Amino acid sequence: MRPIIAGNWKMHHGPEEAARFGEALGIADLPPVELVLFPPAISLAALRKAVPEGVALGCQNVHWEDRGAFTGETSVEMVRGAGAEFVLVGHSERRHVFGETDDQVAKKMAAVLRADLVPVLCVGETLGERRDGRLEEVLLRQLDAVLDPPELRSLLRDGGQRMVLAYEPVWAIGTGETATPADATEAHGILARRLLERLGKEGTNPVPILYGGSVKPGNAGELMGADRVDGVLVGGASLDSKSFLAIARSVA
Ligand code: PGA
Repeated sequence: MRPIIAGNWKMHHGPEEAARFGEALGIADLPPVELVLFPPAISLAALRKAVPEGVALGCQNVHWEDRGAFTGETSVEMVRGAGAEFVLVGHSERRHVFGETDDQVAKKMAAVLRADLVPVLCVGETLGERRDGRLEEVLLRQLDAVLDPPELRSLLRDGGQRMVLAYEPVWAIGTGETATPADATEAHGILARRLLERLGKEGTNPVPILYGGSVKPGNAGELMGADRVDGVLVGGASLDSKSFLAIARSVA
């Protein structure tokens, strides 16, 4: 499995800036990695035209319905039409700033999987939850919300559809605080054990687990070297093509 280097631009880079980023993204000398960029939905088409072949795109959020009176929302088919293959589901800003619930996250996961797109499910604890010793409880609650519904389990287990998981401790996002490699290994271990219990080994694509939260060129190598870390989901440091490429190059 190639390490995944994913960039979540959040609400940065409109179409023109996205095109400039794509044109500057020289990937010829990179080690074998899978690059995925999540621009704002409005910049997907411009970035698709500008990035070199082999760079995958994703959308930061979708609605679970196919169409209808949902002002401001984007459907999975629209995401695909704009040239994206991945979708972030349940990012902590969606959960904590926009009040997205586990139930809504599960509906979005189902819509993404049914459309044959690849969900990147984000889970993570707040600082308070970590201090209260609730790391495992919170991670498993967020993961079980998508593994418990029978339709989702069957899409993932029997349909063999691909999914990616991202562990993003909320206290490390955009704060400059990073989990230690040992923290990442502990959390990834909790998630990997649950995936195995619920999905088993057969008929399932292995689920890569990414670490996210203040990943920078200076710490990416150490984090990616940690046990059970299959890649990184990068926010702020993915906005500049040079620093995004430096992170991709730090894969040993
Ligand atoms: P950050 O964001 O790298 O800026 O901390 C990570 C994320 O929110 O995915």
